[in-house]
Amino acid sequence: MSQIIDTNNLPKHIAITMDGNGRWAESKGKIRAFGHKNGVKAVRDTVEAAAEIGIKFLTLYAFSTENWSRPKSEINALMSLLVSAINKETKTLMNNNIKLSTIGATDSLPSKAKKELNEAIEETKGNTRMTLILALSYSGRWEILNATKNLIADGINHEKINEQIFQQYLTTKSVPDPELLIRTSGEYRISNFLLWQIAYSELYFTNRLWPDFRRQDLEKAILNYQNRERRFGKTKKQIQN
Ligand code: FPP
Repeated sequence: MSQIIDTNNLPKHIAITMDGNGRWAESKGKIRAFGHKNGVKAVRDTVEAAAEIGIKFLTLYAFSTENWSRPKSEINALMSLLVSAINKETKTLMNNNIKLSTIGATDSLPSKAKKELNEAIEETKGNTRMTLILALSYSGRWEILNATKNLIADGINHEKINEQIFQQYLTTKSVPDPELLIRTSGEYRISNFLLWQIAYSELYFTNRLWPDFRRQDLEKAILNYQNRERRFGKTKKQIQN
């Protein structure tokens, strides 16, 4: 890599839509589950690399609310991959001082997946180098509706509601908004991911299919981010001052 990552200008939070597992498998004449299986290797490499680079929060879109409408066999394959990956990789999370957490309607996951996740969350809760957040049975609209229902249930006066209070009702309440959102596989969509939180995120799209995504791809995305000017609605001059 010709350019070096500036460690003083790292995104604190990177979110990734891991897309292209199915196409990767189909291009090799294999079933889609084979793509997901190889997607786990990309997850491991990316998680380790992010922690080593100094990223504090990494959110991976592992299973969307809409993914429940996939064929039962594919859902089962994804759930058992999740269980075995968590089971196998909790040690790696401990060795790398990484805390695991989730966002989404995780109550709707199979009980085995819930159990495995809860154990790993409990075991890694004291880790401090990076937080790995798995979005499972997650969608941005679900989250915003959920927050609204809870605000009403808590009897919060509508006059009092502002961005800070609303944000306290989101599943990401203790996590800063992602500065960088990466999507693989050449698709240019948000697909219901972190709709509230990406208001000012930089978007990075790559043609790489998720199972082929590696540390160098993450580094490339971070370098690309570091070459952008973030203005948050202000002028260039205001930012320079
Ligand atoms: C998108 O590819 C990928 C998913 C829906 C699942 C991602 C899951 C994993 C990588 C494995 C389990 C995760 C963890 C965190 C251990 P796609 O199937 O939509 O691909 P396509 O667009 O080519 O069909």
